[in-house]
Formats: sequence, structure tokens, C-alpha cells
Amino acid sequence: MTTAAVRVALPTPYGVFSVHAFERPSGHVYLAMVLGEIGDGEDVLVRLHSECLTGDALGSLRCDCGVQLRLALKTIAAEQRGVLIYATGQEGRGIGLINKLRAYVQQDRGADTVDANVALGLPVDARSYVESAEVLESLGVRTIRLLTNNPRKVGGLREAGGTVNEILPIATAPHHRNVGYLNTKARRMDHLLATAPNGSSPGAADGPIDAMALLGEVRARSDRPYVVLKYAQSLDGRIATATGDSKWISGETERRLSHALRAACDAVLVGVGTAIVDDPELTVRMVPGASPMRVVLDTTSRLPLDAKVIASDAATTVITTERSTPARRAELRARGVRVEVVAEREGRVDLQSALATLRATGTESLLVEGGSTVITALLAADLVDRLIVAVAPVILGAGTQAVNGLGIDRVVDGVRLANRSIVPTGEDVVLGWDVVPRTGTH
Ligand SMILES: NC(=O)c1ccc[n+]([C@@H]2O[C@H](COP(=O)([O-])OP(=O)(O)OC[C@H]3O[C@@H](n4cnc5c(N)ncnc54)[C@H](OP(=O)(O)O)[C@@H]3O)[C@@H](O)[C@H]2O)c1
Repeated sequence: MTTAAVRVALPTPYGVFSVHAFERPSGHVYLAMVLGEIGDGEDVLVRLHSECLTGDALGSLRCDCGVQLRLALKTIAAEQRGVLIYATGQEGRGIGLINKLRAYVQQDRGADTVDANVALGLPVDARSYVESAEVLESLGVRTIRLLTNNPRKVGGLREAGGTVNEILPIATAPHHRNVGYLNTKARRMDHLLATAPNGSSPGAADGPIDAMALLGEVRARSDRPYVVLKYAQSLDGRIATATGDSKWISGETERRLSHALRAACDAVLVGVGTAIVDDPELTVRMVPGASPMRVVLDTTSRLPLDAKVIASDAATTVITTERSTPARRAELRARGVRVEVVAEREGRVDLQSALATLRATGTESLLVEGGSTVITALLAADLVDRLIVAVAPVILGAGTQAVNGLGIDRVVDGVRLANRSIVPTGEDVVLGWDVVPRTGTH
């Protein structure tokens, strides 16, 4: 009989778990995080989580492990009964941390997550679930409802004598940097593609929506990120009323899709006008996903220091010019805000310099969420790769139009869009297109 080496309470934001730590003959430590009473051991919600230091602790976007881990803890907390087994020694599907990082190097050279391991002479998946099954048995778990997208975990537990009565897919919103990895696991390792980009958890009323298809193929350029313009408008083309109100033009399903788009991108940008009028948080809250870096274009750093876009754990960058005072920049930095001073153009932040600065520091994908001045300026400068417009079944009359004057006199000179996607979300319709470059220089 397996017995825990130590048992101790572990308070977390999801509740106070009882941690049972097991040292197994393999040398690996298993932390069984137990919430509530196991009782008769029937139908216990279980997650077997393989250690992933980079994803779980450091927030790496190469995988979805950290998001899955937190979603599993939250799901168990919602039931107030369940077990999460955190299996150390299963890093990188059992190849260890250093080898996993070596596999990342292979992936950066073009291999997928399976071929990378093969190229290194390592197993594609070296994990065994025998020890996890023993841990569950010693906790008194008799039958299992398993939170997983991985059929091999189900098979492994069953082979080790575990009784899995139900499989509950664990649905997260993909990031453009890990969607290839998730697709490879689905294609080559039989994983369920249980992504719910619109935030629908298993059993939710709305079916999943493919936010990645709307996003298009992320192709960062050397001098700027892939730029996606996204806004919600009334049927008559307004993104706000005449008083500036825009909450909410689109419905809840569409707003979850917006959060999935945020979760898919490295950064989300607004002009300081939107940051002041709407005071948005710009984090990912409606789907399980990581919040992107928030970026505000702010020529003079007039963003209020109590703006929500500065608050919370997500990172914030203010892109400003020499027209902001050093004292103000210091105040922002003291609040943990990254401040970038770039060139000025026609009295505002020079867009090309702003985008180049973001690209130079690693941003590959940038979601722009307005407002109309920024939308217009980016379209006028031919700096948009993708346009996503949610059209809501409401008519607002006079108000803020999405796009202002672009100096276009003839229809033939209009901004052209291609490769249309149409996604109905509730009563709204979301449209996506590639923006056809006008100058041919981008
Ligand atoms: N429905 C939607 O999806 C949606 C989304 C977002 C916003 N909105 C609505 O849009 C309205 C806000 O629009 P807005 O046009 O006032 O604000 P905005 O486009 O968010 O911000 C414009 C401000 O950004 C600053 N900026 C700095 N560099 C810039 C550049 N190169 N190009 C453009 N702007 C630059 C300028 O202020 P400085 O010169 O001071 O730097 C400019 O006035 C609000 O009513 C909001 O509710 C709707």
C-alpha cells in the first residue's frame, strides 16, 4: 500500500487543498492535491497533471499547461471535491526539463513536438500512469471522472487498474504560439482538440468557435508584428453612441470570442482615448487563457494613474513621445508600467516606430481594439494585416463611426479585403478578412 510521506494543508486562490506527497520507487514525487471529502471514492473528479515548469510556473506560451493547471484547480474547486495529482518527473512528456528545452530548440528549427523528441533520440511520450493509479488508490478513489484531452492518460490509468467512468475534456483558448503544438497533439497523439475559444466550458450552451480561423495566419514582419484590427459595431457602423457609450454593442458570446482573440495574441493595443473613456482592463477573463501584454498609445502620457489598464497582474506598456514629461514616465514606471518613448509624427506617436519597438522586443501578434482614431490611423498607414468586425443587430444613428476619413475619393481606391470568414455568435455576426496591402511595400 502506498502511503503519503507527508500531508499538509496548501492554501491556494482556489481553496485550501490537502496535499498528500508521495515518493515513489521511480524517485519521482507525486503531489496529490485533495479538495473536499473523497468519501466512498465514487465518481471523483481527477486531473493528472504532468509537471511543466515553464508553463505552470513561468507562464510560457509554448504550451497550454499553466492554463490547464489553473482551469483544473478551478473546476475541482467548483465541485468542492476532487484530486489533482501533480506528477513531478513527467516534465516534457517524461524526457526531463533539459531535454524538453532541447526539443524546443528543434521546434524552433521547424520540427513539431513529436519529431523534435525523435530527432533527439528520445521517446515521444515516456510517461507511465501506474504510480498515479497507486496514489489514487491509496487516497481511496475508486471510480474516476478524468479531466483530460489525452486518451493515453485514460488508457494508462485503466491499464494500471483504475476505473475511469467519465472523460471530461479540458478546454482552453489557444495562443497563436501554441496552436501548432495543440494541433500536432491532436493529429499525431490522438488528443481531443477541446479548445473552447469562445469560452464555453464542457456542457456550456454555446458551441465552440474557432477564434484561430478568424485570426488568420500570424505572420510577423521583421519591422512590425502581425496587426489585427478588431471592433464591434452597430449595424449602421457605429462603435459608440454620440455620448461615447459602447457597453455593450455586441452580445456576450461575441465578447467571449474577443477574449479568446486576446488570449491568442502577444499584445492588445488601444489608443489613450479608449483607455480613458471606456477604462477597459483588457485582460482575458471570459475564457481560460493568458492575458496578453496591454499597450496604450499615449503621446503625452495622459493616461490616468488609476486606469484599469495599469492594474492587475497583466503587463502594460505605454508608448509615448518626448512630449510626455520625465516625471510622468517615472510615475508610470513606478506602477510597473513599461514606458517606451518613440518618435513623433504629426503630433502623435509615430505608428511605425511604435510597432517596430514592439516587434524588436518580441511581439509577433498585436490585436488592436480601437478606438476610431487609432483604427483610422492604422488603416490610413496601411499597417493592418487582418480586420475582424463584429456586427451587432442594433442601430445607433449618430455616434462614433468605426473608420473616419481616409482621403479616399474613388471606390476603386478603397481598402480591399480578402479571404472572408463569417462566424455567427449569438445574434451577432463576426466577419474577418485579410487586408490587401495598398502600397505593396509591407
Ligand atoms: N465598439 C468597439 O469595439 C470600441 C472599441 C474601442 C473603443 N470604442 C469607442 O471608441 C471611442 C474612443 O475612440 P477615440 O478615437 O476617442 O480613441 P482612441 O482611438 O482609442 O484613442 C485616440 C488617441 O490615441 C492617441 N494616439 C497616440 N498616437 C496615436 C496615433 N498615431 N494615431 C491615433 N491615435 C493616437 C491620441 O491621443 P494623444 O494625442 O493624447 O496621445 C488619440 O487622440 C470611445 O467612445 C469608445 O467607447 C469602441
